[in-house]
Amino acid sequence: MAPAITAAAAELLDACPVGEPFDLIAAFAAPLPLRVIGDLLGVPAADRARFRAWTSTLLASDQPATAVRDAVVGMHRYLVDLIAAKRADPADDLLSALVSARDDEDRLTEDELVSMAFLTLWAGYENLVNFIGNGMRALLVHDRPITSMPLAIEELTRYDQPLQFAIRRFPTTDVEIGGHVVPAGATVLLGIASANHDETVFDAPEELRLDRDPNPHLSYGHGPHRSFGSRLSQVEAAIAVGALLERGCALAVPAGELRWLPSFRNRGLVALPVVLS
Ligand code: HEM
Repeated sequence: MAPAITAAAAELLDACPVGEPFDLIAAFAAPLPLRVIGDLLGVPAADRARFRAWTSTLLASDQPATAVRDAVVGMHRYLVDLIAAKRADPADDLLSALVSARDDEDRLTEDELVSMAFLTLWAGYENLVNFIGNGMRALLVHDRPITSMPLAIEELTRYDQPLQFAIRRFPTTDVEIGGHVVPAGATVLLGIASANHDETVFDAPEELRLDRDPNPHLSYGHGPHRSFGSRLSQVEAAIAVGALLERGCALAVPAGELRWLPSFRNRGLVALPVVLS
């Protein structure tokens, strides 16, 4: 998918102003992953505008609960219809492959199919929006040279991980961890942010070291439920960051004025005003 991602990144940046401030999240960090995940799943181009409206509502921090519920219901209904369309007329995309895993191989229930489609769409979108925003913020604030793009992307993924917690776990038996018993059936939230900044694992964890190697961060989770989007994210983030640095990008406001989303689960910026040179 790299050539298509590169072309999409260039097209979005061509539409951005040069020499005057704009919000990088709205103009680039949000639309790029939406296009990529739309292509991957097989969301027809004509439906992308409706998607944009739902996802903007879900990303915004100041929407009333009813608007959020309407957006979730709208997206869910849309995906149910899209699954029906792929079932009738399969294409070379991920959603058709998931339908085939359900219908031909019986590896998913219908609920799991819809849930997987929703999760892929949403996880593949929201995390990358926040990752591109957080990563660019860290690079612009610290102004360090990149010697290896793959190592830099790993470090940016560790430093300001988009998800603060893994998916909830429920132990089936009592488990003893570090002298504490976690009882069977308890809800466990695993703190990725804490693990990524563990001073017994990382040397100077609060320092951004773009050549950190090895970098055993847990930003994509761990075990059988580790994010299946990790490879796509690394490729997409490297293309996005590379394209922005190539065009010359600077913060348009003092770093202290940037606002983080008021979220317990996600780490991401409300907006990232920048100037391209
Ligand atoms: C920087 C980008 C991303 C980050 C930081 C991220 C992070 C995560 C994390 C922490 C989990 C939970 C893992 C666990 O609890 O062990 C997860 C799950 C998941 N992610 Fe991602 N993700 C990213 C991008 C993506 C993309 C691009 C896709 C889709 C193409 C995706 C699809 C999924 C799915 C389907 C799951 C659920 C897996 C399961 O429950 O079996 N993610 N992700």
